[in-house]
Amino acid sequence: MKKILLIVGGGIAAYKACELIRLCRKAGIAVKCVLTEGGQHFVTPMTLAALSENQVYTNLFDLKDEAEMGHIQLSREADLVVVAPATADLMAKMAAGIADDLATTLLLATDKPVLAAPAMNVRMWQHAATRRNVATLRGDGVTVLEPDEGPMACGEYGPGRLPEPEAILRAIQEFSEPKSGAPRPLAGKHVLVTAGPTHEPIDPVRYIANRSSGKQGYAIAGALAALGAKVTLVSGPVTLATPPGVTRIDVETAQEMANAVAQALPADAAIMVAAVGDWHVERAEQKLKKQGGSPPRLELAENPDILAMLGASPRRPGLVVGFAAETEQVLEHAAAKRTRKGADWIVANDVSGDVMGGEANAVHLVTADGVESWERLPKDEVARRLAQRIADAL
Ligand code: CTP
Repeated sequence: MKKILLIVGGGIAAYKACELIRLCRKAGIAVKCVLTEGGQHFVTPMTLAALSENQVYTNLFDLKDEAEMGHIQLSREADLVVVAPATADLMAKMAAGIADDLATTLLLATDKPVLAAPAMNVRMWQHAATRRNVATLRGDGVTVLEPDEGPMACGEYGPGRLPEPEAILRAIQEFSEPKSGAPRPLAGKHVLVTAGPTHEPIDPVRYIANRSSGKQGYAIAGALAALGAKVTLVSGPVTLATPPGVTRIDVETAQEMANAVAQALPADAAIMVAAVGDWHVERAEQKLKKQGGSPPRLELAENPDILAMLGASPRRPGLVVGFAAETEQVLEHAAAKRTRKGADWIVANDVSGDVMGGEANAVHLVTADGVESWERLPKDEVARRLAQRIADAL
């Protein structure tokens, strides 16, 4: 990371932005600051200018070179746009695409990744409107950090404190291009990953789904990108941020996922982590109504098996990896699935506990050579190990 554009919003945590600028400068990152009108009640442009050793921008119309579209330029010349503190108001505007001052205009005009570090009162953070806005922003690819939990300036206690400047700096550095010399064993390889659940609509308001959160698949996509792969992530409906460097295609149903996977070929490897719905029903045009004690009968029809389709395809990627979520006879079912679906490896896990939606996973890697059982690990660590194994195999 060489250059960031730091947007400082109007909250008491704005004073911590000063420390963030200091840490960034120490880490060799150039910082240009935009201070919102609200932000100016908490810190002065002079403070930010002194710390960043750069001009500070406060007003859409004070950009001298507006004839050359200064606000567009400002939004594009940094490698990353960081919003800290991201207030409830600023995030609501970002989610809605409102551009009524310099900060929000830049956020709408930028073509660079955006990292938001929220800070607000606990009730504001937990309010349905903020939950909705955060989900929208994450869906749009903005990385929204989780706020810290603790006593707040307003006297209440809970999540809503700005993450510590050190943690924000770490998040900024995660966006960095790996340093020259860092291993990129998957450079030049295209890896296709599916993740998340599918939603199979019943009528305009109801659907059949499953408990997959997408966390494991997203972690794998991120870990593969970190090793230099070009990653296409075909994702069912989830509320997760797209990992840096990953191209994401959003789908809803199994059929849409199958189409997106076919379109994303050719690939050197395919890692099918999605919990694809096995069945769909014929979608009713209108909302189904209760009809005097005789509930509707849903007739299920089978969905395409994307993994099996890839396993048998003439365009089969060199390495095909499936997941097997089982609640009993985990290894037997996984080994049978490997052969039946034409996969090279199956990553099997027991989902009878809290794996779906949880943070950790105990997996078994089932290959032609046998079974390797890994200890229970955070999903990020499972992802890193698997990505490394994929790199070794390709
Ligand atoms: N899978 C797929 N398309 C489907 C169903 C599953 O690509 N329609 C993939 C999953 O992404 C996963 C693997 O197949 O990599 C196994 O998924 P799982 O749900 O465990 O297997 P099923 O085929 O559904 O088998 P069963 O429900 O009989 O356990």
